[in-house]
Amino acid sequence: MAQELLRESYEILGDDFDKAGETATEIKQLLTDLALDASLVHRAIIIAFEAEMNVVMYASKATLTLVLTEDEIALRIEDSGPGIEDIELALTEGYSTATDEMRKKGFGFGMGLPNIKKNADEFDIVTAMGKGTSVSAKIGLNSDG
Ligand SMILES: Nc1ncnc2c1ncn2[C@@H]1O[C@H](COP(=O)(O)OP(=O)(O)OP(=O)(O)O)[C@@H](O)[C@H]1O
Ligand SMILES: [Mg+2]
Repeated sequence: MAQELLRESYEILGDDFDKAGETATEIKQLLTDLALDASLVHRAIIIAFEAEMNVVMYASKATLTLVLTEDEIALRIEDSGPGIEDIELALTEGYSTATDEMRKKGFGFGMGLPNIKKNADEFDIVTAMGKGTSVSAKIGLNSDG
């Protein structure tokens, strides 16, 4: 297995719009300081931000774990929440159950999960109704040429 260079965990709270985006900002700082390729960092931040926002909008709380190895940036977001009834539908561009209030804040375009998938080299989502959802996204460090 590739050697683990760094591991960080972040707690995200549901409905906490005041702090929304803070975790993604911290991860941006961390990865930028490591002098990783900017386009890889950019992809990781999109994934972190969209996953963080989905916790804020739909779940109670989550732990985001960032692991950097010699080979990849791995992000895992495990939430306690309602779960997702139809994953295929949730992954469809434009599908959203966001409330009017969320849409007024500029969210709810149904683009978060599709963007996470698009920006990941490996993507996995596991959900249990009434329990929660776990999203895993990996970016290969040599994947942008
Ligand atoms: N962690 C989650 N727990 C429960 N449901 C979720 C979760 N993440 C996404 N969903 C469901 O999947 C739908 C699609 O999510 P997606 O992130 O693609 O779009 P969105 O959050 O509605 O809008 P946007 O991300 O563009 O602001 C959501 O509207 C919601 O119904
Ligand atoms: Mg979203």
